[in-house]
Amino acid sequence: MLKRSPGVIAGLAALMLTLAACGGSSGGTTAGGGSSSSSGGSKAASGKVGVILPDSQTSPRWEANDRPLLSAAFKAAGVQADIQNADGDTSKFGTICDGMINAGVKVLLIVNLDSDSGSACLKKAQDAGVKTIDYDRLTLGGGASYYVSFDNVAVGKLMGAGLEKCLTDMGKTSNVNIVYINGDPTDNNAALFKQGYVEATKPLIDSGKYKLVGDQTGKWDEDIAGTAFEQLYTQNKGKIDGVVSANDTMAGGIIARLKAQKLNGKVPVTGQDASVAGLQAILAGDQCMTVYKAIKKEADAASQLAIALIQGKDASSIATGTVQDTVLKKDVPSALETPQAIYKANVKDVIDDGFWKASDICKGAVVAECTKLGIQ
Ligand code: BGC
Repeated sequence: MLKRSPGVIAGLAALMLTLAACGGSSGGTTAGGGSSSSSGGSKAASGKVGVILPDSQTSPRWEANDRPLLSAAFKAAGVQADIQNADGDTSKFGTICDGMINAGVKVLLIVNLDSDSGSACLKKAQDAGVKTIDYDRLTLGGGASYYVSFDNVAVGKLMGAGLEKCLTDMGKTSNVNIVYINGDPTDNNAALFKQGYVEATKPLIDSGKYKLVGDQTGKWDEDIAGTAFEQLYTQNKGKIDGVVSANDTMAGGIIARLKAQKLNGKVPVTGQDASVAGLQAILAGDQCMTVYKAIKKEADAASQLAIALIQGKDASSIATGTVQDTVLKKDVPSALETPQAIYKANVKDVIDDGFWKASDICKGAVVAECTKLGIQ
């Protein structure tokens, strides 16, 4: 919007003044890390950043990966960051949001729990002159300045293509019944992932090789996903050949139900997040694939954007993509990283990338597989 506004110069001037005023008066906030300069045209980013993570149940990533990687990225950039978790509670989310705005953060990054509570927080921040970034999940109608995430339709395509690969490797190419266990409908990403796997499986379904015999939400919850799968399994009298599960947490719940039927490893299940449990299930042969998202890149892009916003700089070289806010009918400048499909044969890539240590994954029953695959 700023780009097209005729008052762009005035707007920028006002922004600089605001930044200068904030830098001079809000004594509570200091530059973190190696930077100690606070005003006078310094190049160092001055001002605190607030980050609200959504929960610690729907995926281990938020606490195990995003928190430490964001914390490290902001530290390396010399920016002080306050990272809090809303624990899946929209009212706690609102309280954290208010607290961060009152504490004088200059930039707020949120992973929303739903569009309404996310938008309410973003609006309050914007009214208070705080710059906003949607982290990982786009807040529909929220109007954040930037969006940092992965190409989430590509994530879904990897799941759809991954399921086809797993089924083909098992010799199953026709008369194949598949089901979708989708993420939480309150999460815009769940729709983007689904768009991807619907697209990837459409030719197989259109040609009659595959039949979609179930399409349910697992709400990013292990038990809800497991129960949804079990109901579909009963409805289809056990004739389910493959499962698109939109993340590893839900895959865990589905695999538990397959184990109870002694069908684990016989019905391929997809996932996402390259979680410890997900990778171990792949090594054990219970899960067919996962989608690895290098969260370090996402965290680094987020910290670079936060600095650009604090300094009032143009960030078009970082946010080179766009994603549509379908409510505002507006393209949001976005930094979108590239996901990677992980099967048993390339689990090592995730370890080589530093996402986990071999010792995090190679425990108990999967030690022998790790040795075979040269993961150490
Ligand atoms: C994230 C996934 C995560 C899911 C549940 C999505 O928005 O992109 O990585 O598994 O939320 O937390």
